[in-house]
Amino acid sequence: MADLSVRIAGVEFPNPVIAASGTYGNGECYTELYPLSRLGGVSCKGMTIEPKMGNVPPRIAETPSGILNSVGLQNIGVHGFVEYYLPTLKEEGNVIIANVAGAVLDDYIAAAEVLDASDVDMIELNISCPNVKAGGATWGVTKEGAAAVTHAVRKATKKPLIVKLTPNVTDITEIARAVEAEGADSISLINTLLGMRIDINSRRPILHNNVGGLSGPAVFPVAVRMVWQCYKAVHIPIIGMGGISTWEDAVEMILAGASAVQIGTAIFKDPYSPLKVIDGLSEYMDKNGIRSVSELVGQVKPW
Ligand code: FUM
Repeated sequence: MADLSVRIAGVEFPNPVIAASGTYGNGECYTELYPLSRLGGVSCKGMTIEPKMGNVPPRIAETPSGILNSVGLQNIGVHGFVEYYLPTLKEEGNVIIANVAGAVLDDYIAAAEVLDASDVDMIELNISCPNVKAGGATWGVTKEGAAAVTHAVRKATKKPLIVKLTPNVTDITEIARAVEAEGADSISLINTLLGMRIDINSRRPILHNNVGGLSGPAVFPVAVRMVWQCYKAVHIPIIGMGGISTWEDAVEMILAGASAVQIGTAIFKDPYSPLKVIDGLSEYMDKNGIRSVSELVGQVKPW
């Protein structure tokens, strides 16, 4: 029987399938469907030091093979998360990852300090949300910005630190290297690609924010390409995401260089999709005599 467990930054995941931030709330809607412990981990909704209402609706637009969102980091704030959601997540789940965003450096630092004193297992530094005017992806689009926020948060916490990268850059490998140099233990990628839709009758953008982040199967090949590029550029483990819907997608992402995967938009269509990915990956490994996930990581063959 294949061993699905993976170790990232010293943290043991029972399997490499994680629910992606922003697509799973803080687990609250899913505990009735299946035990959270079936998943390798949960990355919680991006949180900020203060609660946020998010952007004005409409905030979601469907597209062929994906969705555009401009949620704007609606969340109850780090203190609310620790008080209301974390106890249940810790009781019912495996690895709990706190996704943290901020407008300015001090926001990131303050949030990281609160989480450092909490029971979360890992922090995922969100420098890639495209839907907020201040902070978010503005940190992640230059190597200087990405390095500065990683440096500051690294000093503020001893928790294992994942940095979540934006694909809205010319060369993602230079951002990956910059955060690795500042002490990131892992990188996760990709966050959403900036997009736009227009209602041809009203002639208005469908999203009140005009633009939003594209996710879903449409972005999968971009995500595979970027994970593959980063795998060759850094030595820290990569958590791959972006349009993974099936176990075959997960295998592809692992072959490109991901040590674990996050499932996001697929959960909206099928909340059981992460479990199907786990089962399919396990069968694939058994069928092909692969004993450990690590035997697959980055094993795409060169032409
Ligand atoms: O708008 C949002 O809440 C999205 C967050 C993200 O992409 O990280």
